[in-house]
Amino acid sequence: MQTISNAIQINHCLLKTVLQNAKLVIDATCGNGLDTLFLAENSPVAKIYAFDIQPAAVENTKQQTLPYKNKITYICDSHSNVKKYIKQIPIDVAVFNLGYLPGASHLIMTHTKTTLETLDIMRQLLKTNGIISITAYPGHTEGKREYNALLNYTKAMDKHTYTVGWYQLHNHIDAPALCWIEKQG
Ligand SMILES: C[S@@+](CC[C@H](N)C(=O)[O-])C[C@H]1O[C@@H](n2cnc3c(N)ncnc32)[C@H](O)[C@@H]1O
Repeated sequence: MQTISNAIQINHCLLKTVLQNAKLVIDATCGNGLDTLFLAENSPVAKIYAFDIQPAAVENTKQQTLPYKNKITYICDSHSNVKKYIKQIPIDVAVFNLGYLPGASHLIMTHTKTTLETLDIMRQLLKTNGIISITAYPGHTEGKREYNALLNYTKAMDKHTYTVGWYQLHNHIDAPALCWIEKQG
């Protein structure tokens, strides 16, 4: 049995504190709605925007989060279009859980170019002390490309403007990895 936490569990532990006072939260890849549900349950005063490009994913998320539907806006579109939908900036927390929708086609997934372009936009919209968390999956080909690109992208971020940390189980091959980005004042 694994008792050391994986990337998603660590992400949720870290997010719990920052969600307490968050007003604007984005689930950039809502999928089956598990992360959106977690965000809704743990952010007492936030408005949440949940994005996914797949109608089935948005529908799954709606079903998963029914008790919280009044605080969530569900958007079937790419997270790269975030500015089209969100006028009330800055963003407190943005969560990316990359890859493909579990139980659906593995041909539809996040892609390196769009992910990096969206991060460029999202970090401009982020408030001081705001958080972007990214769970990346190097265990499949595009996921590995995306993970390596993210390592380079985040390494190059100005340390006076952003603090970046990574967490990954070290002795598991290609384990999911958590990237945590905090915007500095
Ligand atoms: C690993 S799943 C997300 C899991 C989800 N957070 C959950 O808790 O069930 C990744 C999701 O990203 C979505 N996706 C891929 N590219 C996207 C994009 N450009 N914008 C928004 N969602 C995207 C996929 O359709 C898929 O549902």
